[in-house]
Amino acid sequence: MTDEKTTAPVPSPNPAPGPASPPKTVGAPLSTDEKRGLLKRMLRGAVNPSPTPSIKDVPARFYRPEAFPALQEIELHRKAADRMGIRNPFFMPHEGIPGGRAVIGGRDVLNFGTYNYLGLVGDPRVNRAAVDALERYGTSAGASRLVAGERPIHRALEGALAEYFGCDDALVFVSGHGTNVTAIGHLMGAKDLILHDEWIHNSVLLGAALSGAHRRSFSHNNWEEADRFLARNRGKYEKVLLVVEGLYSMDGDVAPVDRFVEVKRKHRALLMVDEAHSLGVVGAHGGGVREHFGLDGADVDLWMGTLSKSLASQGGVLAGSRAMIEVMRYTCPGFVYSVGLAPPLAGAALEALRLLRAEPERVTRLQANGRVFLDAARGVGLDVGPSEGYAVVPVVVGNSLRAARASNRLLEHGVHALPILHPAVPEKRARLRFFLSAAHTEDELLRAVALTRQVLDEL
Ligand SMILES: Cc1ncc(COP(=O)(O)O)c(C=O)c1O
Repeated sequence: MTDEKTTAPVPSPNPAPGPASPPKTVGAPLSTDEKRGLLKRMLRGAVNPSPTPSIKDVPARFYRPEAFPALQEIELHRKAADRMGIRNPFFMPHEGIPGGRAVIGGRDVLNFGTYNYLGLVGDPRVNRAAVDALERYGTSAGASRLVAGERPIHRALEGALAEYFGCDDALVFVSGHGTNVTAIGHLMGAKDLILHDEWIHNSVLLGAALSGAHRRSFSHNNWEEADRFLARNRGKYEKVLLVVEGLYSMDGDVAPVDRFVEVKRKHRALLMVDEAHSLGVVGAHGGGVREHFGLDGADVDLWMGTLSKSLASQGGVLAGSRAMIEVMRYTCPGFVYSVGLAPPLAGAALEALRLLRAEPERVTRLQANGRVFLDAARGVGLDVGPSEGYAVVPVVVGNSLRAARASNRLLEHGVHALPILHPAVPEKRARLRFFLSAAHTEDELLRAVALTRQVLDEL
């Protein structure tokens, strides 16, 4: 278990340049005249007890973006990739609608790179709902909802999402990532503890850092470790927030959320579950981990979800009790000081949510696709880690170079699967990640698995 105080350490000032006059030997006493002289000069301001560095001494890496270490690292990676003949697999423009297939560089390829789990991106009914909202309300909410940005479609969407999560109420934000940052950053403070899975998403870590709370991670899915830690330490903190993902976005395994509910109850903690990848994916009808484990909405204090995956839109959502959502609605900075969700995005998400309910066969197909892919991959000896075959299946290849090369080669064969490289995952766990969709056919899945095996054997 790692332990960190998330408050960013105050950077130590630059080493001060040498003083204007030669320093006295440390420890040598000053004579009375020397003391008088020093006092006079100090009073005149001639002696600065802590000289600030001269402007000339500020290095370029602190004010010129061209000299930022991050840029140098990017360029280093680019040069190394060029030298090894690896094409950049990132930022590749897709033309048209990204479904089970995509058009990249004018070529029709099998697409395993987007979150279109239920195949609803580009669905004519979802498009129509976005256009209807656009024609009625325009492209932008034009203001924070607190002031003049509230539109009826926001509350309609929040009502539907609250029902989905089995909660009193819900609140939508303009970004999924931003939802975690602002909600956790706002809810928690210096006397609190955030206890999270070691594989938790970056947005949760950033929210924790923003909050200034103490932060600890427990080993993946290890609710017993979290329980033991709280048994010893709960009393040291005011609020404790346990954070897990419903379905892990890198490995595709489901968290034992039912166990975390017991832990949070036992220790008077709050539980937040990030359902970004499980919404519409896990549970017989796509009801997420709540349906999967037969939980009550109120078993979890803060359900978080994104609109950008199964719901074919963009934005984030929090769902919870009336009290929790009321606090967020009036005080959460990423909601209060940010524009309301764009009406066409709200319209699209609302229609996608309706279709998730009306067409449960999409979920059935997605889950069947997951089983086909997982069984076929295991059958040819691919390392799919702990994936349970719900929409996210990694193929661990052992190092970043091999992952990048495999992604390049697969694209040459007409399969688009992105590499996940260190530091996003440990170097030994570098991988190709396959996002599955209800829109894939069984043939397409089997072809992708066979080609992956072939490419890895060739490398
Ligand atoms: C677990 C998790 N939470 C939050 C997010 C952020 O969601 P969004 O991409 O909608 O901003 C992601 C993004 O993929 C995610 O994987």
